[in-house]
Amino acid sequence: MRNIIIDCDPGHDDIIAIMVAVAHNKELNLLGFTTVAGNQTLPKVTNNLLKVQSYFGWNYPVSMGYDSPLIRPLEVQPAAHGESGMDGPVLAESPLKPTGMHAIEYMRKTLSEAREKVTFVCIGPLTNMGLFLKTYPELQEKIDCIAIMGGGIYNGNILTKAEFNIYHDPDAAKIVFESGVKVIMAGIEVCYSGSILLTETEKAKDGGRASKLFYDLMQFYQRYAIRNGWDRTAIFDCTPVIYLLHPEYFVKEERDVHIETVGEYCRGMTVVDTRGYADEIKNPKTVLVSVDREKFVDVIFESLNILDQQYA
Ligand code: RIB
Ligand code: CA
Repeated sequence: MRNIIIDCDPGHDDIIAIMVAVAHNKELNLLGFTTVAGNQTLPKVTNNLLKVQSYFGWNYPVSMGYDSPLIRPLEVQPAAHGESGMDGPVLAESPLKPTGMHAIEYMRKTLSEAREKVTFVCIGPLTNMGLFLKTYPELQEKIDCIAIMGGGIYNGNILTKAEFNIYHDPDAAKIVFESGVKVIMAGIEVCYSGSILLTETEKAKDGGRASKLFYDLMQFYQRYAIRNGWDRTAIFDCTPVIYLLHPEYFVKEERDVHIETVGEYCRGMTVVDTRGYADEIKNPKTVLVSVDREKFVDVIFESLNILDQQYA
């Protein structure tokens, strides 16, 4: 059993990753959520999470974090996630409220009180994570690892060479990657290798409560793939969660990774040292390279089935 805190910016793929994590509550002990501005503004991504919690009758603590990157301006992504940050599903407003504690105070309190180490699953910009590490370095020893969706070995998405979560707050990402805490990096290559076929999504169409939410999320989220004539789409944020559940499904490498924080074309690039000079590796990160696609997708549908049964 691994204690986890999920730091997120829901976000269609954030919600699907959260469903996978909650469905596997025997392996992953979800302590709570922190939210961060990214896909949409902090109030919007927080409200999306609260609505999904109420949809399922969950009530995990939700603590709001930073509403903008450390230095850069906020750059929400309505093209990918809509004005609400979770366009598509129509969910009732939630009566739930955030804890009222700032995300990094929630992190501090939770780690201070934890008897065992805690894993952070970071599936949005790293603003909260970076500032927590900077503010409370003495608590790093309570962190088992930081599993992130972010970066890329060779390519990006929002820029040719930069992936959105790192691009959005490269300065916070630099703090995380240089902290010395174990980092597991699920970049875009491994996310793309676990892509779900548009035809596979159809399997969820007539399912239960969780399958219906998944299907409705995907109807909006996969429009980008359809517009580009692709037959599949990457559900990026599921990747670090499924790695924690099944590392054996993945190919991974230990690599030094540096964060480019400036540059017209490369700001937010994760500079992964793939040269292979073993004696020069200084602060290696576990960089995920690829995954068995069918097994990866099976975990998503297994999760939906588990939740469908629970909420039948
Ligand atoms: O680049 C993909 C990442 O950016 C995902 O976390 C998605 O939710 C967006 O935040
Ligand atoms: Ca996200």
